[in-house]
Amino acid sequence: MNFLVTGGAGYIGSHMVSFLQNLNFNPVVLDNFSTGRKRLLKNCEILNVDLKDKEKLSYILKDRKFDAVFHFAAKSIVSESYIMPDSYFNNNLDGTMNLVEEMKKNKNEILVFSSSAAVYGNPQAKIIKEEHPKSPISPYGKSKLLCEEFLASEQSNENFNYCSLRYFNAAGADNLAGIGEYRNKESHLIPLVLNSIIKNNESIDIYGNDYDTSDGTCVRDFIHVCDLVEAHFNVFKKIRNDKKSFTFNLANEKGYSVLEIIKVCEKITKKKVKYSFNKRRQGDPATLVADCQKARKEIFWSPSKSNIENIVGTAWKWHASLKLKK
Ligand SMILES: NC(=O)c1ccc[n+]([C@@H]2O[C@H](COP(=O)([O-])OP(=O)(O)OC[C@H]3O[C@@H](n4cnc5c(N)ncnc54)[C@H](O)[C@@H]3O)[C@@H](O)[C@H]2O)c1
Repeated sequence: MNFLVTGGAGYIGSHMVSFLQNLNFNPVVLDNFSTGRKRLLKNCEILNVDLKDKEKLSYILKDRKFDAVFHFAAKSIVSESYIMPDSYFNNNLDGTMNLVEEMKKNKNEILVFSSSAAVYGNPQAKIIKEEHPKSPISPYGKSKLLCEEFLASEQSNENFNYCSLRYFNAAGADNLAGIGEYRNKESHLIPLVLNSIIKNNESIDIYGNDYDTSDGTCVRDFIHVCDLVEAHFNVFKKIRNDKKSFTFNLANEKGYSVLEIIKVCEKITKKKVKYSFNKRRQGDPATLVADCQKARKEIFWSPSKSNIENIVGTAWKWHASLKLKK
């Protein structure tokens, strides 16, 4: 089978590529390398294209038929999306529209889309189910919801089906493949904490300690990146069999506060983390925890690598290995 992975040189996309390679497939990667890195990829065809470049995209994908397209490519830094909202809408929405247009021209029928918990906005329930109202706060979250709405408008049972996967917080690393999270502008909690330890205990900022949570810091739901990409393959099989479109939350159904994550990082690394409290950031809900029963039942997904010690442990091995290579 043939698979295309857009954003395959990024954090989650590179784990999808490795997962497919382990099943003996030869996925093709499409990436503009804005945040992606060649060093996360081994032995695969790489199409160096920007999804916004309609003409080049059309030329490169002409007559190419894929059993599924896994669409990870996006700009995804929430704070940056407030500073340059237009470039988030252009990149994420226009990129998705161009991709779907080319897929349809070439009779590609299945798209698995990386959506986000950011489409929900401020939770109105303790645990978020897929039917929860959508009211994104950030331009990033809005761009993802617009993509979901666009995909719904393009769906047709016989010719084009998709699944929107709403990830909560992806984390961890595939130590066997030697890949992990690696960004110039890091904004994710676990790599920030682990990098602060590597950089001789630089202090990190915690944004807000006056939220309505057990210790006043934000609570998030972390899913191991290897469990996450496995769900994508299950979803592909489900769409192929049922010829329908779907939406699933993907998370671990457990919340950890920022301070609890710091404690786990200290336990795994046996180092003390320095931090100071800063004011709340725009658009950060107090708690984001998912209900994933729908994915568990309908795509037989059962995350097995997502206990928090394993997430932090695999991330730590990855970050420590990067330090050795420097
Ligand atoms: N990391 C998370 O916790 C998380 C949570 C929710 C949703 N997501 C979504 O998952 C997807 C992957 O996230 P990630 O953390 O791996 O991010 P990432 O930045 O590591 O990967 C994104 C990849 O897409 C590429 N890309 C961006 N715009 C492109 C374009 N116009 N054309 C071609 N390539 C382009 C980048 O170069 C990069 O390789 C994104 O869609 C993101 O919104 C991630």
